[in-house]
Amino acid sequence: MSSAAGNPATYTERVAIEGHIIDSLILPKVLDEIIQLGGRFEIDDVQVGHQRTDASRAELVVEADTAERLDEILTAIGQHGANPVDERDCRLVEADMDGAFPEGFYATTNEETEIRIDGAWIPVGRQEMDCGVVVETDPLTARCVPMSDVAKGMMVVVGRNGTRVRPQGRDRTAHGAFGFMNSTVSSEKPKGVTVREIANAMKRAREGDGRILVVAGPAVVHTGSRDHFSSLIRSGFVNVLFAGNALATHDVEQSFFDTSLGISMSHGGSIEEGHEHHLRSINRVRRLGGIRAAVESGDLTSGIMYECVRHDVPFLLAGSIRDDGPLPDVVTDAVEAQRRMREMVEGVTFALMIATTLHSIAVGNLLPARVKVVCVDINPATVTKLADRGTFQTVGLVTDVEPFLRVLVDELRED
Ligand SMILES: NC(=O)c1ccc[n+]([C@@H]2O[C@H](COP(=O)([O-])OP(=O)(O)OC[C@H]3O[C@@H](n4cnc5c(N)ncnc54)[C@H](O)[C@@H]3O)[C@@H](O)[C@H]2O)c1
Repeated sequence: MSSAAGNPATYTERVAIEGHIIDSLILPKVLDEIIQLGGRFEIDDVQVGHQRTDASRAELVVEADTAERLDEILTAIGQHGANPVDERDCRLVEADMDGAFPEGFYATTNEETEIRIDGAWIPVGRQEMDCGVVVETDPLTARCVPMSDVAKGMMVVVGRNGTRVRPQGRDRTAHGAFGFMNSTVSSEKPKGVTVREIANAMKRAREGDGRILVVAGPAVVHTGSRDHFSSLIRSGFVNVLFAGNALATHDVEQSFFDTSLGISMSHGGSIEEGHEHHLRSINRVRRLGGIRAAVESGDLTSGIMYECVRHDVPFLLAGSIRDDGPLPDVVTDAVEAQRRMREMVEGVTFALMIATTLHSIAVGNLLPARVKVVCVDINPATVTKLADRGTFQTVGLVTDVEPFLRVLVDELRED
């Protein structure tokens, strides 16, 4: 960063940005961000790739009236991959306490990141937004660490110098909804086509070395879709399940009482004292010692949780303030639940989030940008929120979960 000659009130930095910056709209985003944050730019050089697969490169000089403003701009555009041409090593500061980073720590995005140490760039592992970067020597590695897991003595990256992100560009091998990141949310899109694309992505994941994570809310059971979902588990299209107390509770309620929230799943009417069924279900599972124990004792013989146990699909039920009971399997310590989810999302390549705002956003925050995310919800605001909170790679489908799962199962069955 330097003060421009002849004008002590102007601070400048030369930055370069390369990759698929034109068709992924990264360059216009960078220029817009500079203006929005009160800076100015001069484009020095742009080399546009001629073929579809060619990368482009732009070099620009960013200007601001104060060093602080320039720093703010460089931090913001750094997240789109615009990095200073004059490369420096990152600064490491030892954590002086457990559970908190040193002041000024570098805060991560969900995009692939690298840091520079002794002149060499090394990749940051376990990429996740809103974490810090901890470096270990012998062997030299860097990884994202959440604030709660900081231990005194860890070496933490501080400041922006010596960090660079590699933004996710447009996926050139994908078409339709997955061809563009940040797909528009609309209830007026042709859903059949999008569901077919989702089915194809799930088939590719199952056939290759992909891993499919499903995050689901209780509407999956309330709407009578649990048999569709159970068949996805049986056919190997679910490798990990994240949910809350409600999904598992109402799933078990349907198995024990053939109701969901007291509504008959056979005739759709309410049942006398049906409102107590979910409590009686939780109570019975607590008496048996948990979901696996309920399956093994022969008390729980159908449904989503039953299929997970039968097919060794790992699940994590995270607690919330609304929970009745909860079921013994629910992890009620939110930080511990996050920790376990971080371990379980390792290797996930595709995430399907169905009918839960709370868990979709929570899990979205844990995923690196390279993981394809599909969010299905009846409320467009849920999908928009997920994208706005940083999971910008989300493809949104605004629809009722029941027809969605029915068509998805049909598409996958046709295989
Ligand atoms: N009895 C209980 O213990 C109990 C009951 C309810 C919720 N909870 C807990 O509260 C937390 C939040 O619950 P949540 O995830 O249900 O609520 P949420 O508000 O986070 O999400 C519900 C989502 O479902 C969507 N939705 C509703 N009907 C739909 C349909 N037919 N098709 C598609 N989308 C539909 C809504 O638009 C909303 O986005 C969870 O942890 C849950 O376990 C506990």
